[in-house]
Amino acid sequence: MHQPILTRLSFVVALWAGAAPAFAASPAPVEGQNGMVVTAQHLASQVGVDVLKAGGNAVDAAVAVGYALAVVYPTAGNLGGGGFMTIRMADGTTTFLDFRERAPLAATKDMYLGPDGNPIPGASTETYLAVGTPGSVAGFEMAREKYGTRPREELLAPAIRLASEGFVLEQGDIASLAEGNERLAQDPAAAGIFLKDGKPYAMGDRLVQADLAKSLTQISEGGADAFYKGGIADLIVKASQANGGILAREDFEQYKVREMAPVTCSYRGYEIASSPPPSSGGLIICEILNVLEGYPISYLGYGSAETTRLMVEAMRHAYVDRNTALGDPDFVQNPVEKLTSKAYADEIRSRIDAYRAGVSADLKVNVSPESPETTHYSIIDKDGNAVAVTYTLNGSFGTAKVAEGTGILLNNEMDDFTVKPGVPNLYGLVQGEANAIAPRKSPLSSMSPTILSKDGKPFMVIGSPGGSRIITITLQAIMNVVDHGMDLQEAIDAPRIHHQWLPDRVFMEPRALSPDTLRLLTGMGYNVGIDPDWTIWGEAAGILVGGKNLAQIEDGDGTGYYGAIDSRASAGAAIGY
Ligand code: DON
Repeated sequence: MHQPILTRLSFVVALWAGAAPAFAASPAPVEGQNGMVVTAQHLASQVGVDVLKAGGNAVDAAVAVGYALAVVYPTAGNLGGGGFMTIRMADGTTTFLDFRERAPLAATKDMYLGPDGNPIPGASTETYLAVGTPGSVAGFEMAREKYGTRPREELLAPAIRLASEGFVLEQGDIASLAEGNERLAQDPAAAGIFLKDGKPYAMGDRLVQADLAKSLTQISEGGADAFYKGGIADLIVKASQANGGILAREDFEQYKVREMAPVTCSYRGYEIASSPPPSSGGLIICEILNVLEGYPISYLGYGSAETTRLMVEAMRHAYVDRNTALGDPDFVQNPVEKLTSKAYADEIRSRIDAYRAGVSADLKVNVSPESPETTHYSIIDKDGNAVAVTYTLNGSFGTAKVAEGTGILLNNEMDDFTVKPGVPNLYGLVQGEANAIAPRKSPLSSMSPTILSKDGKPFMVIGSPGGSRIITITLQAIMNVVDHGMDLQEAIDAPRIHHQWLPDRVFMEPRALSPDTLRLLTGMGYNVGIDPDWTIWGEAAGILVGGKNLAQIEDGDGTGYYGAIDSRASAGAAIGY
């Protein structure tokens, strides 16, 4: 399109000010004046918005969405898994709910090792032994009771309706089910639900989940006790015992949600609140950001060799700490202060060579790597209460096993433990003793539900699935907004890189780095490439407050909320009102 020179100039000026609508690499973020719900499945997003419109707060919406995703997003939404919720109330108080799975009381350190001392293939991912005691229902009920405002029955009603009446499967739903069909077919109870007469569902089919509707109704009537002390626990224990598992009634009776303070740090004036151990997420995001704060990342630019190498070196150092030093806080002394301190970031910066790639093997010895389906959703209400939730079955559909009669898919979260030091898990993470298996312990996670604020007001709500990449996905969404001035949708869609100490390789998405940049990095000694085994780099779900990008927020030009769901997957939606 031809533009007169003057118009072009004013257009550039307008762009500079962040006011131009064009030149986006992605569609515009979704706008809402009163509230925003961003989830990986559009029906669940609508459930959340309906709760907000009916006068519920962000926590009410998060609880209703959590139950709804268990129905409409079975690859990761769940009752049989666990997760984390970061809450920032409008008055600025923050809290964190840890409802991650706990190892069964009968779990032992070497439970996945065979007589030869090596991991038994599939034991920690494909069997009933892989199942940790689920936490999602306890977590949602605690959130609702302490921070919500609406009755349980009201928040469960949409999920019950979606399960009992069913919902029509669209392209994104079929793509998601396709990931699990083969494994789901191997478990009769799962196959009875997620396959249609033994064949994959097709677009336009209706998925009805009668047993799940029954379980949800029991929870609606009896609360968390219906799950942990009632018939649901009995059915899961029965299925576990019949199939070589170790879950017992006591595991359910003793399950407790932990409420704790989020991990906090600052990045270029923004306050970050994110997940503390048993997640590594918040700490490691803070550690990487603290290191990067010392460099002019905005000036160095998105995708440049210089920015990339600094990110890689910060990631390399931080993932050593992730994989060797962290574990469940009831079992391990986590060096939280050290890892979040600016002084430690100085020390790391002093060890980064300006000309040559670092070498992971030089950083530490005696460790081993970590594991992909999870889902993240972000919600904010009219008062500014913000909630970030990441929850999971671990792998896609968890174990892909359903306890007969419950309709509930069971997690394979136990694989997040160190099965054997030095042996990579599902996500290639090589981990150490701090994350060894013990009864009641939670495996170390990378889930990073994160809320940023500035001047006492919420600024950004963000998180993603992606196994060990959750941390770097969340990190890059933050950097793309704060350092690179992208609007939220661009920030989430922009191609990503990842380094996790071991393997000593910089992974990139196609087109994340130009051929010139690749040549510069290779010349410095970096081993950079596309990981052919890892096609989906998460599915970030975020909200920005007061503008679609930083320029608009700083100018005070925007109002309301801007939501974006990752373009990498197609079932989700950001819905505002
Ligand atoms: O807690 C964790 O870090 C893993 N269980 C998360 C798994 C995950 O993100 C899978 N999704 N892509």
